Amino acid sequence: MRIVNVPLGHRSYAIKVGGGLLSRLGAECAPLKLGRRCAVITDSNVSKHFSKAALKSLSASGFQPVLITVPAGEKSKRIAMVEKCYDQLAAHRLERKSFIVALGGGVVGDLAGFVAATYLRGISFVQVPTTLLAQVDSSVGGKTGVNLRAGKNLVGAFYQPQLVLCDLDALKTLPKREYISGLAEIIKYGIICDAILFAQLERNLPKLLQRDTATLAAVIARCCEIKADVVGQDETENGLRAILNFGHTIGHAIENSSGYGKFLHGEAIAIGQVAAAKLSHEILGLSSHDVARIEKLFAQVGLPVKIKLSVAQREKLFAAMKLDKKVSDGEIKFVLAKKIGKVEFGCKVPVETIERVLNGG
Ligand SMILES: NC(=O)c1ccc[n+]([C@@H]2O[C@H](COP(=O)([O-])OP(=O)(O)OC[C@H]3O[C@@H](n4cnc5c(N)ncnc54)[C@H](O)[C@@H]3O)[C@@H](O)[C@H]2O)c1
Ligand SMILES: [Zn+2]
Repeated sequence: MRIVNVPLGHRSYAIKVGGGLLSRLGAECAPLKLGRRCAVITDSNVSKHFSKAALKSLSASGFQPVLITVPAGEKSKRIAMVEKCYDQLAAHRLERKSFIVALGGGVVGDLAGFVAATYLRGISFVQVPTTLLAQVDSSVGGKTGVNLRAGKNLVGAFYQPQLVLCDLDALKTLPKREYISGLAEIIKYGIICDAILFAQLERNLPKLLQRDTATLAAVIARCCEIKADVVGQDETENGLRAILNFGHTIGHAIENSSGYGKFLHGEAIAIGQVAAAKLSHEILGLSSHDVARIEKLFAQVGLPVKIKLSVAQREKLFAAMKLDKKVSDGEIKFVLAKKIGKVEFGCKVPVETIERVLNGG
């Protein structure tokens, strides 16, 4: 098992990465000095595979868990579902010392984390992320929240868990498209912070695609370490944390303008990162060799690297990008790479340059 510490003073916590961790859930929670009552919040897909093991492990360590299952999918990340969870926590008489286990992907983590942050003004919570994206990204860093009709993640709280358990065995049941999508965030960590990780990904790609446990353990732990380090320096996104958004300005605009659901998040940010690499070549002098390596790795993983747009779609995409990010004097701020492993944030890019890059010119 690998352990990564998230350094946040008295709110510091450990991320544990390894196989078979779900069966140790109760034993891992025991030293946290939490109350006996707890709630496992999960979704309908994850529940089928893992809720029994989670409940069994908690009960074996003397906890009294209740299971709350929400429908799978982004639609569960909303206020109405938060209220349903509160009602069940109250019915099960969870009190200040009680805790919540978020068992699932980013949707469950964001929802259950927000419920934990607000129920009784905040009770403890433990993350057991079961998607690749959740293990390397959403379970680390303490952002929790739900969506409004007006947009994603508009209501939320920064709220750190007590512990994160990344059970690599959980990834075995993950649908292939979800798994591949998670790899887009992993590649991102290589580009923004770690050229050695990027080279390892290039070298070990077949093993990674086979979901080899030893390869995954090293890669996931490294990604968590990078995110923990960035979050440790800038918890509430005043500066450095922006680098985690490499590829996301265009990625979010693709998700927004194509209607949520067409592209998975990882697919949209793969296109966004390749475009950001091309912008980096023009603005920061990222070498053509590095741009080619980035595009090749995404393609080899099986992620899209470009998007074909009609004139109307392009207009929609730019409108989405301008809404998302502040535009001043016809320029949009980007995170761009100087070389693989080194990025800068707040780089102003003229709208025409973005248009040219997205048009493939
Ligand atoms: N808090 C953050 O910092 C942060 C960061 C990135 C993304 N997010 C949020 O995360 C969400 C996306 O997370 P996601 O990609 O994990 O999506 P998700 O939680 O919807 O999971 C994807 C699908 O996989 C299923 N699933 C999960 N684990 C499984 C497993 N082990 N086996 C089989 N099926 C499994 C789920 O039921 C779902 O259908 C978005 O809402 C996004 O806003 C949050
Ligand atoms: Zn992302």
